[in-house]
Amino acid sequence: MRTQVGIIGAGPAGLFLALLLQRAGIASVVLEARSRAEVEGTVRAGVLEHWVTALMHELGLGERMAREGHFHGGITLQWNRERHHVDISGLTGGKAVTVYAQHEVLKDLIAGLLARGGTIVFGAAAMDIQGIETDSPRVTFRCGEAGTVATLQCDYVVGADGFHGPGRQAMPLSVRHEYQKIYPFGWLGILTRAPLSWHELIYTNQAGGFALLSTRSPLVQRMYIQCDPADNIAQWSDRRIWDELHARLDVDGWSLTEGEIFQKGIIPLRSFVCEPMQYGRLFLAGDAAHIVPPTGAKGLNLAVADVLVLSRALEAAYRRNDRNGLERYSAVCLRRVWKAERFSWYMTTMLHRNESETDFERRIHFADLDLVRTSESAARLLAENYVGLPFD
Ligand code: FAD
Ligand code: DHB
Repeated sequence: MRTQVGIIGAGPAGLFLALLLQRAGIASVVLEARSRAEVEGTVRAGVLEHWVTALMHELGLGERMAREGHFHGGITLQWNRERHHVDISGLTGGKAVTVYAQHEVLKDLIAGLLARGGTIVFGAAAMDIQGIETDSPRVTFRCGEAGTVATLQCDYVVGADGFHGPGRQAMPLSVRHEYQKIYPFGWLGILTRAPLSWHELIYTNQAGGFALLSTRSPLVQRMYIQCDPADNIAQWSDRRIWDELHARLDVDGWSLTEGEIFQKGIIPLRSFVCEPMQYGRLFLAGDAAHIVPPTGAKGLNLAVADVLVLSRALEAAYRRNDRNGLERYSAVCLRRVWKAERFSWYMTTMLHRNESETDFERRIHFADLDLVRTSESAARLLAENYVGLPFD
């Protein structure tokens, strides 16, 4: 197989890139290890920054999101059994986020790309990337029931293959610098068939620590609670989950509405950055290059930001033989990445209980929360980051 841009991974990074390149008249092939059903069925993120929503529309793929998504101009922060509304729209000149599940976004992107003649090879696991220091790199992949080995030749390879994919590993260790922080807590996430309990997302630090009330539809709600990352989901009965959610979310005169829990799982929380994000003809995008703890709702958005920068740089290279953008790709992306890392770390440390911290540090986190309540500057800084920072 031969194409212009070989993309490993049909997550948000790989699919948005393929669509942006397709719009610019650049050919790509997306190799995806999992089946289409698995990709479209994996429950993950939910919050789209304002410009990602606009990009979905620009690509002509925003119709279902406009119908089924939820538009939020504010969030609620809660501590000491009190709620405080952060007026995101009021503080950012009218911008809002969209709550629309990641796998619904992926369904729309996959259908859109295939309808436009794009190529996604599902069940194709990239094994090896060679020749990234030459101008014709190759990706070797295994596909089909028989495990046939094939090669994709291209001008550029994009590792959009998530944290565990082979993309980052193809970058020599001698040029790679990795920064990491592991948090001593995880998130237990559930989907429940229940009506909406509150009109906007609630982020709380109360009782045992963090909880998040989010939504998926008028009849399905998404909720998360801080837990031990080593916990086995079997230790969490539905009753225990609801008891913890009540303890962390309920306030005087308001109690969370329960429902049937039909999906639950635990994820660890980490911060991670790989520098640089490019070496030779290999470009890393999204979780392959960086991970944020989900508290700031930045992971998916950051993945899309990377490929927006990359698609413009590839367009300049193909159209005008201008490689300046490709050379600056890593530096441009990392400026945004580190701001998202900072914001996600700030939201995470402020809103979680960390047993290894001192009482002094805990008081500082509550002071941070109270600053958002009392200082318009603090609230605006949070709002600008949450809704999506402008591009440089
Ligand atoms: P991925 O989505 O991981 O996609 C990578 C793809 O590559 C996968 O489909 C994988 O199968 C494929 N792949 C891997 N190895 C290979 C291989 N060898 N060959 C071929 N294909 C391969 N982010 C937000 O912005 N907002 C949120 O509200 C939010 N909430 C979250 C909540 C949870 C519970 C979780 C887990 C994450 C959340 N995130 C959130 C983060 C977000 O889901 C990720 O940052 C996002 O999926 C990254 O996209 P990606 O395309 O870089 O990687
Ligand atoms: C959701 C996930 C997040 O990480 C977040 O900060 C807000 C909402 C969600 O899945 O709905």
